[in-house]
Amino acid sequence: MKILGIETSCDDTAVGIVEDGRNIITNIVFSQADMHSEFGGIIPEVASREHIVKIVPAINKALTEAKMDLKDIDALSVTCGPGLAGSLLIGVNTAKSMAIAAGLPFIGVNHIEGHIYATCLEDVDIRENPGFPLISLVVSGGHTDLILMKGHGDFQIIARSRDDAAGEVFDKVARVLGLGFPGGPEIQKVSVKGSLLKPEFPRPKVKNSMDFSFSGLKTSVVRRAELMGVYPNNSIDNIDQKIADIAKSFQDAIVDTIVRNTIGAVKKYKAKGLIIGGGVAANKLLRDVFAKESPIDLFIPRPSLCTDNGAMIASAAYFRLKNNLAYQWDLDVYPSLRIDASK
Ligand code: KG4
Ligand code: ZN
Repeated sequence: MKILGIETSCDDTAVGIVEDGRNIITNIVFSQADMHSEFGGIIPEVASREHIVKIVPAINKALTEAKMDLKDIDALSVTCGPGLAGSLLIGVNTAKSMAIAAGLPFIGVNHIEGHIYATCLEDVDIRENPGFPLISLVVSGGHTDLILMKGHGDFQIIARSRDDAAGEVFDKVARVLGLGFPGGPEIQKVSVKGSLLKPEFPRPKVKNSMDFSFSGLKTSVVRRAELMGVYPNNSIDNIDQKIADIAKSFQDAIVDTIVRNTIGAVKKYKAKGLIIGGGVAANKLLRDVFAKESPIDLFIPRPSLCTDNGAMIASAAYFRLKNNLAYQWDLDVYPSLRIDASK
């Protein structure tokens, strides 16, 4: 079964075609990062206008690369939430119109579910290996969620960020350090030249909870940047080294915090496997530390499948369809959609 997946929840216009939930036929991503970097963050109105311009070319490019037309596609799927309302609308309305015109099944997918199923694109059958229950960590620009998964479509959020999402903190710290957008890859790049600062940044912990809270860490980074003369002015000597040191020390602290809570959840729920997804899962240090520390089988898709893409939506849609979890024709956009809600 070949499913075309459309993803427009944030600032990427993405279209993927996937066979049987696992084999990527094509995966096209038109990024808007250059457009938003001018402002240091995503401007929702700019994002939705750009989706309007890019969505049809992205679909055409995916079909052309796959040497297919709509007659070769068995179902259409789209992210219906969570995300920016204006951006989601472009994807949902496009997919719905195409499905009606072509008489194809139409499946709405939760974006977070897509990040989890990206792992299946690495030829993993999660029901067989590792099997349920699973713990899934989704770390992206909008979410830091720990999810207990007891079966396909059976999700329970067991912890989340009480304030900023992990990716959001990477982006904000990068802005303070005068680095580009999105901040995660920039911080990773400059960290290579950095040394760990003493005293180290805090590893915030929420009392009696596995929830995350990053605001204290963020404030600490801003204070240190001020003390070291890197922020708000950045015309001091040896600035590049100081920026690299702060970036590396911040990356170290946030990765430590994320790994600590996640491993805690794995042990508490006696999970058989750990799946990690979302843009921040592309981070090399995060991947390395999880590989070292995870007490159970670890699944992290390649970096290009961690960041937003259409193939992950098509994969999640395949398992929804197989398990009769498809959404209906009255599907709308749900900007605050939870993964543990039926809609
Ligand atoms: O999943 P994603 O592509 O979009 C959302 O659903 O938000 O995640 C984007 C986030 C951004 O905040 C970006 O800075 C972060 O993922 N990111 C990274 C890396 N690559 C992307 N963070 C840390 N290290 C990276 N290599
Ligand atoms: Zn995402």
